[in-house]
Amino acid sequence: MRTLRALVAAALLCLVPVLPAHAADLTYDFEDGTTQGWGPRGGGVSVAVTTDAAHAGTNSLLTTGRTDTWHGASIAPPFVKGVTYRVTAYARLVTGQPASTIALTVQRTPTGGETTYERVAAATVTDGEWVRLAGTYLFTADSTDLQLYAESSDATSQYYLDDIVFSPQGDPTREPITTDFEDGTTQDWSPRAAASLQAGTAAAHGGARSLAVTGRSASWDGPAMNVLGRMGKGDKYALSVWVRLGPDTTAGRLGLSIERRTGGTPSYERIVPPKDVPAGQWVQLAGTYTLAYDVDFLSVYLESDSGAFPFYLDDFAMTYIEPKPIQTDIPALKDEVPFIMGSALTRPDTLGVHGQLLARHFNGITPGNELKWDATEPREGEFAFADGDHLVDFGVEHDMTVRGHTLVWHSQTPAWVFEGADVKEVDKETLLRRLENHVRTLVTRYKDKVAVWDVVNEVIDENQPDGLRRSKWFEIAGLDYIRTAFRVAREADPDAKLFINDYNTEFPRKREALYALVKQLQDEGVPIDGVGHQLHLNIEQPPASYVEDTIERFATLGVDQQVTELDVSIYTDFVSSYPSIPPELLVEQGHRYKALFDVFRRQASKLSSVTVWGESDDVSWLNTWPIPRLNAPLLFDHDLQAKPAYWAVVDPSKLPPLVRKLEAPAGTVKVDGKRDLQWDLLPDAPLPRVGGVSAGFQARSAPGGLYVLAEVTDPTVSSQDKVTFTVDGTMYTVTRAGGPKAAVRRTTTGYRVEALVKKGTEVDVRVHDAGTAISWTGKVTTAPAVKLASAAHRTPVVDGVAEPVWRVAPEIRTATWIQGTSGATARVRSLWSGSTLYVLAQVADPTLSEESPNPWEQDSVEIFVDPGNGKTKGYTDDDGQYRVSFSGHVTVGGTFDAAGVKDNVTAVAKTVPGGYVVEAAIKLPTITLAEGTLLGFDVQVNDATGTAHTGAVTWNDATGRSYLDTSHWGVLRLAD
Ligand code: XIL
Repeated sequence: MRTLRALVAAALLCLVPVLPAHAADLTYDFEDGTTQGWGPRGGGVSVAVTTDAAHAGTNSLLTTGRTDTWHGASIAPPFVKGVTYRVTAYARLVTGQPASTIALTVQRTPTGGETTYERVAAATVTDGEWVRLAGTYLFTADSTDLQLYAESSDATSQYYLDDIVFSPQGDPTREPITTDFEDGTTQDWSPRAAASLQAGTAAAHGGARSLAVTGRSASWDGPAMNVLGRMGKGDKYALSVWVRLGPDTTAGRLGLSIERRTGGTPSYERIVPPKDVPAGQWVQLAGTYTLAYDVDFLSVYLESDSGAFPFYLDDFAMTYIEPKPIQTDIPALKDEVPFIMGSALTRPDTLGVHGQLLARHFNGITPGNELKWDATEPREGEFAFADGDHLVDFGVEHDMTVRGHTLVWHSQTPAWVFEGADVKEVDKETLLRRLENHVRTLVTRYKDKVAVWDVVNEVIDENQPDGLRRSKWFEIAGLDYIRTAFRVAREADPDAKLFINDYNTEFPRKREALYALVKQLQDEGVPIDGVGHQLHLNIEQPPASYVEDTIERFATLGVDQQVTELDVSIYTDFVSSYPSIPPELLVEQGHRYKALFDVFRRQASKLSSVTVWGESDDVSWLNTWPIPRLNAPLLFDHDLQAKPAYWAVVDPSKLPPLVRKLEAPAGTVKVDGKRDLQWDLLPDAPLPRVGGVSAGFQARSAPGGLYVLAEVTDPTVSSQDKVTFTVDGTMYTVTRAGGPKAAVRRTTTGYRVEALVKKGTEVDVRVHDAGTAISWTGKVTTAPAVKLASAAHRTPVVDGVAEPVWRVAPEIRTATWIQGTSGATARVRSLWSGSTLYVLAQVADPTLSEESPNPWEQDSVEIFVDPGNGKTKGYTDDDGQYRVSFSGHVTVGGTFDAAGVKDNVTAVAKTVPGGYVVEAAIKLPTITLAEGTLLGFDVQVNDATGTAHTGAVTWNDATGRSYLDTSHWGVLRLAD
C-alpha cells in the first residue's frame, strides 16, 4: 500500500512529472572511501569519511567544526523538477555530544524568486544509536543552486551520516494503488458521509482482514478514496475491488463510481454499475476509467443502487493501463469508402491514442451523449455546452462532418421538460414552446459547424396501430412535436440537413411504419431531408439483405440516407457473457461487416455517410448495455488495433476464411425441384449477394445420404449457371439442365436445385453465374428431426376447461427432458382463429409449488411462439415466451424489453386431480394467420418442488435454451 498524501500535493499543482532517465535510487554509503560528492557547508566545517562508526559496512561520513545551526554536510542533489523523491538517511552523534534534532533541508532559488529552505526530514538524534530520517521532496518551479544539507538544532553538534538514499518516486499517475487492510488501518479510505469504516477480521477476501462499512446514511454513502493527482488526464486505469454483503444482509447491488469536480461542479460516473452481490459471496467489481477532464476533486467510491446496507470491501487495486500505440501502417478507413466514414465519440475519445485513431480513420463524428437534452439543457433555460463545444470543435478542427445527435428523444430528456407548473403534466403549448427554445438554441449555436441533425430520434413503435411511439412527446403533442422540431431546426439553420433517426429500420414492420411517417411528413411539407438507420445489429441478425431492402425502399421517397450508429454485437441475446472473446467470433463478425459494407458500397449513391457507434471496442456502449459484459462490436479492438472487421471494410482478401456451421436435421424430401414442406421448417442459410445473384442453402440427413437445397436468385438464364456441392472432397455439379440424383426447377426469381449427395461434414456450396460465384463453406452436422404439429381452425372458450372443441386438435406431448429425466409433463393441443393462437396444456403434476420467487422455477407451462418461424438465435421483437403458472400467473419473455409481445397473452389455469390445465390465447398481430402458416413453436413444462426447479421438459427443443434462442423450437402448422 502506498500513501497518497505526499503525492496528492504534487497533483494539486497540476503536474504531469516526467521521470528522469536515471530513475534509479541514488545511494551514498561511503564504502569506497570517498565523500561521494558531499562537502562542507559553512566556514570551518569539515566533512570526511571515517571508520569510527558505520550504519552498515565499515564507513560513514563525519561532520565536525560546525559553529552554526545551518552548518553541516551538504551536496548538490540531482533532483529534477516535478519528480517526487523519497529521501532516507541514518544519523548518529559522535560520542559525548548532547541529543539534538538533525534535519535534512533543501535550499533552492526559484528563477526570479527568493531563495527558499524546505525541510525534508528530521528526527531527534543521540550518540547512542543510528536514527532513521525519512521524508519526500518535490519542487515544481524552475530553480537553481539546489543544496541538500544536514543541519542541527545544536550549533556545534558533530555527527555521522550513512546510507543516504534519494529515491525518485516516478509519476504518481503511473503508480498503482492497492489496499488490503492487512495492517489494520483503513488505508486511505474515508467515509463519503456518515458511514463508518473499520478494518477487521470479520471477513476477508485475501489475507485476514477487510474493510467493514456500516452506518451508511444513503445508497451513495460509503467508502471513498481521494485519487486526485493519481490519474492523468487522458489516461486509462483498471480498477478492481472485491465486495461482500454485511451480516444480516440477504441481497444487494453494489457498484464502483467516481466523483469528479471541475470548478467545484460535481459530476458522477459509473465505473462498474451496481451489480448483484449474493449473500455470503465475494464479488469482484472491475472496470476501467479514463479521466477526460481537468479536475480539482477526484474520488473513487462504492455505492449501492438502493438501500444503505452494510458491506465489506477488500483488495482494491487501481493501475494505469499503458496504451498500445495505434497502427500507422494501415490504410485510413475514410480513404477506402465512397461515403463519409463517421464515428460516435464522447469527451475522453478526443485524447491520447483515441484522439489519434479518430483523426486518422474518420472524417465524420457524432457526439454520443453531449448534445442530448439532458446534457445541453438540464434545467429550463440553463444551457450547458462545454462538452458539446469541445466535441464539435474537435470535429471542425479535423475537417470532419459533424452529426448533431439529437434534438428530440424520449430518453435522456430531463423530467422538467414534461412537468407543468401546478399540474403533473405540462400542457401542449408549453411543451412545444420548450421544444422550440431548445431546438432553436442548439441549432443556432452550431450553425455552420453541425452539418446534419438527428432532429427526432426513435419516434416509431411498430407495435402501435399507427406505428407511432407513445412517448410523453407524442401523448402530449401528437405529431406536432415532430413538425415543430423540423420547422424550427430549418429556420435556425437552413443549410443543416435534417434527419429522422431510428433503430430496427431494417426489419420490415418497422421499416414500413417509418416509411409511412416520412411520407406523411413530406406530403405535409415538413422539411425532412433524410432518414438515419441506426443499425445496432448483432453477429447473426438481421441479414444484410434486410438493410439493402430498407435502403432501396426509402430511396423511393427521394430522401438522403445515412447509417448512423452501426455496431455488431457478438451476442445474440441479452444475458450471455464471454469472459474473453472467442477469436473465431471476430472472424465471423468480419464476414458480417463485409456483407454490410458490400451493401453500403452498392447503395453508395443513396447513402451519404456511415457512422459506427464508437471508434473502438473499449469505448462501446455495448460493454454496459443491456447488461455489463465484455463486447466487441466495432472495427478496432479494446487496444485500438485493427480487427478482422476493419479488414472486412478495407481489404476483405485479408479476412481469414469463415467456416460456417449448419445443422442438417433428420428428414427426407422428394428430389423433384419442388419446395417440400420439410424445407420450410427452417430458413435457408444465406449466400450473400454479389451482383444480382444470391442464394439460400439447406440440408437434411437421411440414411441414404444428405439432401441439399439451393434456392438461387439469378434473374438471367445463362449456360454457365450452375451449382456445385462439394462434400468431404467429392464434387456434385448441377446445371440449369440438371445433374445426377438432382432436380432443377425455375422459380420467379431464379431457380431451385435439390440433390441427394453422400453423407459428410465438410461442405462447400458454390453458385456460379457468368464470371462470378458466391459460396457457403462450412461444417454440416446431423441433428434430430424438427418436429411438426398442427393447429386446428376452431375457437375455444378460454376458461381453463378442455371443452369438446379441443378434441379436433391433434395432441402432442412434452418428452424432451432438458432438466432431470422425469416429473411433470403435458399433453398439448392448439387451435387458431382470426389472429389468435390457442393452446391447451393438460399437465400431469401431483404436487404444485409457487414458492420460488422466480417464475421460471414455479410449476408452470411455457409456450414459445415465433410468428415468422425465423429460427433466429436471439429473439426478434415478435418472438415470445409466454409462461403461465398452475395458478394462472402470467409472465412474458422476448427481446430485452419484451415490448413487442408483452400484451399478447391471456390465460386461465385450473388445478385438476393429478395436475392442472392451462388454456392460453396468444394474439399474433404481426402476421396474418391462414391455413398453411408456419409458426416457430414449442412448449416447456417446469416442475418445482418447494423452491427448487426439479425438472423441465419440452416438446422439441433439446438445448435448454428456448428462453434465449428460437432456433431449436419446433414448428406448428395452421390447418384448415
Ligand atoms: C447511447 C450512448 O452511447 C450511451 O453512452 C448512453 O448511456 C445511452 O445512449 N440509440 C441512440 C443513441 O440513438 O443515442 C444511444 O446512445 C444508443 C441507442
